[in-house]
Amino acid sequence: MNRFATLPLAALTFAALATASLRPTSAQVVAQTPPMGWNSWNYFATKVDDKGVRAAADEIVASGMKDAGYIYVNIDDSWEGERDANGVLHTNSKFPDMKALADYVHSKGLKIGIYSGPGTKTCGGYAASLGHEEQDAKMYAEWGIDYLKYDLCSFIPDVMMKQAPNDKAAQMRLMHEAYAKMGKALKATGRPIVYSFCQYGWDAVWEWGPALGANSWRTTDDINPQWDRIYAILEQQEGLEKYAGPGHWNDPDMLEVGNGKLTLAENRAHFSMWAMLASPLLAGNDLTNMKPEVKAILTNRAVIALDQDRLGKQASRVYSDGEVEVWTKSLSGGALAVAVLNAGDNRYSTHPFHLDLAKLGLHGTQQGEDLWSGKPVELTENMPLEITKHDVFLVRIASPK
Ligand code: GAL
Repeated sequence: MNRFATLPLAALTFAALATASLRPTSAQVVAQTPPMGWNSWNYFATKVDDKGVRAAADEIVASGMKDAGYIYVNIDDSWEGERDANGVLHTNSKFPDMKALADYVHSKGLKIGIYSGPGTKTCGGYAASLGHEEQDAKMYAEWGIDYLKYDLCSFIPDVMMKQAPNDKAAQMRLMHEAYAKMGKALKATGRPIVYSFCQYGWDAVWEWGPALGANSWRTTDDINPQWDRIYAILEQQEGLEKYAGPGHWNDPDMLEVGNGKLTLAENRAHFSMWAMLASPLLAGNDLTNMKPEVKAILTNRAVIALDQDRLGKQASRVYSDGEVEVWTKSLSGGALAVAVLNAGDNRYSTHPFHLDLAKLGLHGTQQGEDLWSGKPVELTENMPLEITKHDVFLVRIASPK
């Protein structure tokens, strides 16, 4: 990984770049709800290959994930080979024929994504797009690519540090321009391609990313399959809710559901909270060896429906009480989702948490549905809730009062 320590996130305005011409035309409208699919990185990292991507596509269909809404099959870093004398980037030996792979994924009724970056190298040290943006975008379109994750990485030392040493504002301007350049190149292909910024939330990307064509932008550095990291990322989403909406989403990073040593409760809580955040839902596990309980989490349609709600509102944290926090998400038709998360380790039933409905703007008893048991649930003012470590109580109230 080729990144330097966090730069100060200067608030810069780039009115000149925020031109209407960079906004998607109606023919290119994508990501009207948060993109759903799978990405190779979190589990396979550089071990991804053509066979593995085909297997993932097969499994998305066979597992019922496709029917539940998972559509994008995204190849992350390490597909890239060398550029030839004409600047054409070739795939490496793990991906003998990208067009044939894209055709295969499309034949399953799915879409395919790829990865690059604005520097000379990707984070994994493979060839990236600097100086070849139009050429690469054209090639992606010819292959039939539907999604591009564009990762800053070596652009930092290659361009930002070199061209503007000691001038953070100028470095950020270069970064904006680089993202705008690929945005334009993608647009010029005429193919609807989801454009996903991966620059770790620098310089308040949520403020300027959409105008440069971003359909999503990473809000933090990388996720990993550990509760503390997942929770730390969740905390950083607070306050970003106003930037999310149809076509442009905060991205708290890809899912770790089913990875590492996450407990069932942690997998459930992670998935619930990413759905509350209207986050892209990109599974990151080994689908061909998925345990039934992991599949059940990833395909819980009631939870997915929160994420995919057409209003596109991201949840807000309304209040917290020690280690327990309460988030709400407004849904279409006046409905409301409430998530009560026990983020800590040490709260026992001798000291249950009491739900304060008034703090949520609710008046008295509410009828809801517990989205993990699928059963009706009645919420009463000040009701005690015993939520075990790193678990969540997730309720949809169809008609809140
Ligand atoms: C990181 C990125 C990861 C993954 C990786 C590939 O910068 O945040 O999600 O794409 O690079 O090298």
